[in-house]
Amino acid sequence: MPSDPGFRTLSGLHSAAERALPASIRAYVDGGAGEERTLRANRRAFEDRRLFPRALVNVERIETRTHFLGEEQGVPFFIAPTAYQALVHPEGESGMARAAAAEGVLYTASTMSNQSMELVAKAASGAPRWFQLYVQPDPARTSSLVERARAAGYRALVLTVDAPILGDRDRQEEAGFTLDPAMPLGNLDPGSYAEGKDPLPQKSYARGRITADFVWESLERLCRSAGLPVLVKGVISPEDARRALASGARGVVVSNHGGRQLDGAPATLEALPGVVQAVGDRGEVYLDGGVRRGADILVALALGARGVGLGRPSLWALAAGGEAGVRRWLALLREDLRTALALTGCRAIPEIRRDILFPG
Ligand SMILES: Cc1cc2nc3c(=O)[nH]c(=O)nc-3n(C[C@H](O)[C@H](O)[C@H](O)COP(=O)(O)O)c2cc1C
Repeated sequence: MPSDPGFRTLSGLHSAAERALPASIRAYVDGGAGEERTLRANRRAFEDRRLFPRALVNVERIETRTHFLGEEQGVPFFIAPTAYQALVHPEGESGMARAAAAEGVLYTASTMSNQSMELVAKAASGAPRWFQLYVQPDPARTSSLVERARAAGYRALVLTVDAPILGDRDRQEEAGFTLDPAMPLGNLDPGSYAEGKDPLPQKSYARGRITADFVWESLERLCRSAGLPVLVKGVISPEDARRALASGARGVVVSNHGGRQLDGAPATLEALPGVVQAVGDRGEVYLDGGVRRGADILVALALGARGVGLGRPSLWALAAGGEAGVRRWLALLREDLRTALALTGCRAIPEIRRDILFPG
């Protein structure tokens, strides 16, 4: 592993990852669904926002602390769940989780991790972490995942609901990206899928590993039995947000899966205010999709998000330098957030209000 991850700023991160990754993995990480309208919209929504710089506030001390589900966090951002991290770097999930723990940032482990949630828990020992759940076609397997997450000290289940079937990800398809059915998946039993030995496009690979028959009544049952708070990830519609809370979820993650599912879905930042209004004080609202800089985090928080997740940047950082790369990226992001807070005159997270947005 190179000790220098090859980037010194957030702006240099993506090119460092491009240098480190072969073309088909790059297409898997960077690509979205269809023509990538939603993927581009996520980013554009942030790029089109402006912030008011504010003068003559004493910003000698900046406090980034906040709370997620009642638990104190050092920063209002977290690492969103992403599958197959060993494809981008041999250290895989445990490298990413170790870096997150060292930097005091919450890590979300995907059901589709190469390494098991127990191994990740050990790597991130002492640091808070969430487990992202893909409901399995066999209910016994879902129960076992939930039980294991509880036993391994995960603090919440992040239930992904926007991928009952996978979107058509044209960019990765064109690049010939496939998955080997024998690839280790530490949370699922690789021996029990009857799909042969040939590499599979991701959509076929996911078919046996994510159920398409999970409905609102199933959510109520899961929330009652999980023994962990449930956050519903992949909500764009205010009506779905309302229903998730009424079904027992503690909150929602406004997400379109990083533009990888329904191409044509709105940008998450555009959808955020409607969801925030629908949820009111009945739960917590998080957002992911297109968050890259401190200023993006400020904009999302000003519009009502409690915290934001970052997906691709975490993979770029892991690809560029393994654990050291992720540590550098997280440190840069924290510093960028502090700078943006200071220059908008916000000394602490509760001071981020809508009036930092220009023109309002
Ligand atoms: C390569 C890749 C793999 C992903 N795997 C998962 C996953 O296993 N589970 C999940 O809930 N979301 C998954 N996502 C979606 C992310 O959790 C998140 O919603 C998205 O990446 C946020 O957008 P951003 O990449 O622009 O930050 C994945 C995203 C990417 C880019």
